[in-house]
Amino acid sequence: MNGLPMTVPAPGLPARVRVHEVGARDGLQNEQSAVPTPVKAEFIHRLAAAGLTTIEATSFVHPKWVPQLADAEELFPLLADVDAALPVLVPNERGLDRALALGATRIAVFGSATETFAARNLNRTVAESLAMFEPVVARAKEHRAHVRGYLSMCFGDPWEGAVPLPQVVRTAKALLDLGCDELSLGDTIGVATPGHVRALLCALNDEGVATDRIGVHFHDTYGQALSNTLAALLHGVTTVDASAGGLGGCPYAKSATGNLATEDLVWMLDGLGIETGVDLAALTATSVWMAEQLGRPSPSRTVRALSHKE
Ligand code: HMG
Ligand code: MG
Repeated sequence: MNGLPMTVPAPGLPARVRVHEVGARDGLQNEQSAVPTPVKAEFIHRLAAAGLTTIEATSFVHPKWVPQLADAEELFPLLADVDAALPVLVPNERGLDRALALGATRIAVFGSATETFAARNLNRTVAESLAMFEPVVARAKEHRAHVRGYLSMCFGDPWEGAVPLPQVVRTAKALLDLGCDELSLGDTIGVATPGHVRALLCALNDEGVATDRIGVHFHDTYGQALSNTLAALLHGVTTVDASAGGLGGCPYAKSATGNLATEDLVWMLDGLGIETGVDLAALTATSVWMAEQLGRPSPSRTVRALSHKE
């Protein structure tokens, strides 16, 4: 065993996938203790050196809401030499001002398909949050920034239960109508299963949303994140969010656990012969190092298997 799976391609899959790495944001926003800023900067440098080309760096949200990322102003300038796109989360104009002042060129707004999560995460109704994003997206586009629109609770909500597909599609379209370049479908609490993924993608296509504007963002609560990813790839999706070492969760969604681990994703994609540009050994070493910083082992099966010493 050389630390890589045997490559055996399968039909109906894309030749290349862009991994949208979220560990430094979705992962670290959920840590009990704040990670020192230089450690975050080293993490992001190491992720870029491992071949990740899109690395979500931090959030310009209210520091009281997410204290773990309150050092965004200190962190972002330390990333000036990182050879990767560095999107940042921005909920409102105040966040956009902070991000633009530091030279951010890719931002992400984050909406919710459900009212309860919109209230808990943004202190707004769904309609009020879309109204809050409107000037953010417009001004970001004036600055030629790339804008991602996240949509949370696409497959289920811990307070509201099942989320009807038309409700998800309506909010997704509203985000795209604001001018978002890309949409990321969030399974915030990890309850999706592959048929559900396919059904939502078909429903979006039926309403005119092209698959090439859609990314998928799975959390691995029930161990379904990779199966759901494969369903999305078979549908033609080529942007997949993942978190190094499987770090993650969401501070405002009970039962949200870690994201799909980037190593687990890359193991599968390497095996299928799908190009990502990611060096699995370098990435695993990064997650082992990060786990040491956090004082507990990575939950990723692939990290554990590849770092296991006899
Ligand atoms: P609010 O309390 O309604 O804020 O929070 P406000 O608009 O009433 O403003 C109150 C004060 O906060 C004002 O100051 C503002 O200037 C200040 P004052 O005038 O009273 O002195 N303020 C800010 N300060 C710094 N930066 C800002 C900012 N905004 C306002 N950006 C707000 C509304 C949206 C700000 C708040 O709810 C918030 O920050 N929420 C963020 C929650 C969050 O980050 N959640 C995690 C990310 S989402 C996620 O993880 C899901 C995802 O991974 C996909 C998935 O898995 O589903 C993306
Ligand atoms: Mg998430």
